[in-house]
Amino acid sequence: MSIHTTDQGWVLETATTGYALGLNAAGLLTHRYWGRRLTSPDDYPPAPNPLAWASFNSAAQSTPEEYPGYAGETFIDPCIKVTFADGVRDVVLRFESAEQRDGDQPELRIILRDTAYPLRVTLHYRVHHAHDLIERWATATNEGDAPISIERMLSAEWHLPPGSGYRLSHLTGRWADEMNLRREPLVQGLKVLESRRINTSHHHSPWFAIDRGAADEDSGQVWFGALAWSGNWKIVAEVTDFDTTRVKIGLNDWDFAWRLGAGEQFVTPSSFAGYSDAGFGKASRSFHDLVRAQLLPHGDAVRQVLYNSWEATLFDVDERSQVELARLAAEMGVELFVMDDGWFHGRTSDRAGLGDWWPDAVKFPSGLSPLIAQVNALGMQFGLWVEPEMVNPDSELYRAHPDWVIHFPTRARTEGRNQLILNVARQDVQGYLIDTIDRLLTEHNIAFIKWDMNRSVSEPGWPDAPGDQREIWVRYVQGLYHIWGTLRARHPQVIWQSCSGGGARADLGILRLADQIWASDNTEPTARLQIQEGFSQVFPASTMESWVTDMGPEYLPLSFRFHVSMCGSLGVGGHLVHWGAARRAEAAGLIALYKAIRHIVHQGDMYRLRSPHDHAFSAVQYVSKDKAEGVLFAFRTHIPRPANLPPIYLRGLDPDARYEVEGFAGARSGRAWMEAGLTLELADFGSTARRITEALRD
Ligand code: DGJ
Repeated sequence: MSIHTTDQGWVLETATTGYALGLNAAGLLTHRYWGRRLTSPDDYPPAPNPLAWASFNSAAQSTPEEYPGYAGETFIDPCIKVTFADGVRDVVLRFESAEQRDGDQPELRIILRDTAYPLRVTLHYRVHHAHDLIERWATATNEGDAPISIERMLSAEWHLPPGSGYRLSHLTGRWADEMNLRREPLVQGLKVLESRRINTSHHHSPWFAIDRGAADEDSGQVWFGALAWSGNWKIVAEVTDFDTTRVKIGLNDWDFAWRLGAGEQFVTPSSFAGYSDAGFGKASRSFHDLVRAQLLPHGDAVRQVLYNSWEATLFDVDERSQVELARLAAEMGVELFVMDDGWFHGRTSDRAGLGDWWPDAVKFPSGLSPLIAQVNALGMQFGLWVEPEMVNPDSELYRAHPDWVIHFPTRARTEGRNQLILNVARQDVQGYLIDTIDRLLTEHNIAFIKWDMNRSVSEPGWPDAPGDQREIWVRYVQGLYHIWGTLRARHPQVIWQSCSGGGARADLGILRLADQIWASDNTEPTARLQIQEGFSQVFPASTMESWVTDMGPEYLPLSFRFHVSMCGSLGVGGHLVHWGAARRAEAAGLIALYKAIRHIVHQGDMYRLRSPHDHAFSAVQYVSKDKAEGVLFAFRTHIPRPANLPPIYLRGLDPDARYEVEGFAGARSGRAWMEAGLTLELADFGSTARRITEALRD
């Protein structure tokens, strides 16, 4: 059983972790414990009853509430803030009841109610036992007949064991430089990470990991979490002046308000969090398993090797240029040919066309079907690029519906990449996009869609909004999910890629709709190593689309460039005509190797052995779930001579089984490969991919 009710409250248990909450003497719903699973449900400590410190600091300020409201003398950054119809602005939530739902994913619901107003808040705790994760979200219900304005409503507050001295790991970046892993001490005050851009953003990711300052990939306590949401989000890590540390996560309250009418409900997105007693590596593997088992539409199916036309032909796509590339791609073993931007009405540059999703009559006088037929005849599936949420002012769509974009009527409409954002919160816009993309998918044999989004928001107005205009931040994302979800349901075989100028829409929410993510527009392989390390903190390799392009051939061998991309879902994006026969033949060999090992990369466990952020010699390893096989990738960028490369210690093997590692004579025990390690020889800008195979048992 994963949920226990005892005299002290409730205990949620996963395979290796325990999480306890309960009511303290003041009746507050209070955090009790989060860490390694204890022997018995009665082992978990009782709810704490802190004392007041001074007249300035009531006991409430030191109480680790599970979901603090903005009320009284708490002075903790709250999870919920509302204004009632009479102007009262504090929310006093008290326990009313608890419910339990059993099943594969048992759920505890704690129902809180305001002491004076008809506001009910339900806290949901779903236990993902096998993945060592707890999912939390909250629902607000207006049980009265006057509206309530919600000004903040986060998904969860997660408490660390009492104390400070913690360290925060997070991901930061910018366009073409996403997902840089940063670690920094948490000190008294608030550390805020957020997006205000209407998408998840290149700049920060809705993920955190907190440790005691010395955890590494294999050891140390780590508390970690992420938000399943693709719009404005916020993480606040708070270290109080009373030596307590907590982190909250949810929808960003920046410029946000939600009018909760009589009888209505507001549901927050889910946050997932867990505890690892074996460092950051175990934390990542929990997320990887959850994503593959529960979120991705196509689960852990291996991804096809794709070719993408963008970096080769940019906007100059036509049937001739694409068939030429497709022929060469097919000869190399590519399985899916994706035509990127430039194929639709009026799209000769980024100045025109977005919104008019039918084939350009000059470039494709007979439509897309002849191209698709030729791609299929070459033995490949066909994929297509779209950017549904966007419109160029120079388009038929905008000329017909200038009011469909996000805007303030009295302000100029700021363009980004010459485009405006369609307000997908509007039902008419949703209907248009569903019909248009549905028609494309119905009329053509399209196996893959790349869904792009190439700007951040500005002038976030919605003049004829049915409620408070500031609901746009949430209703936009709900609209996006509705459009995408409807199309997915109608065309369940299609594989979707989430792209937002690279990795600005990489989150657990979009992975319920998309099977893979374009991690970055930066395809330079040495930069990519770090981007991929950051990406792997949360997302499994199968979701990380990574192309070999024309970036880096002056100083990087083709094998290095392929090895980097083989650590994810391999694609090719270089101009194959310019590659020449010898390079294409070498690429074909590397693609064949990848096909032989990709099931391990996509479906196995990942171990980051040496960080490319910290070292010019880095390594990552994948091991199949049954531990029978693995693959080791190692990369050396520039290390001044003389250089001795340090040993690599493999991970994840069965210590008692015997394994062969390609390039090394004889089988050794898993224990030997993990404890004594192995030494590789690599020149500057050299790389290697070594298969690891369990030796036949006697
Ligand atoms: C941005 C994407 O990240 C690129 O891969 C490409 O699809 C362009 N948009 C096309 O405009």
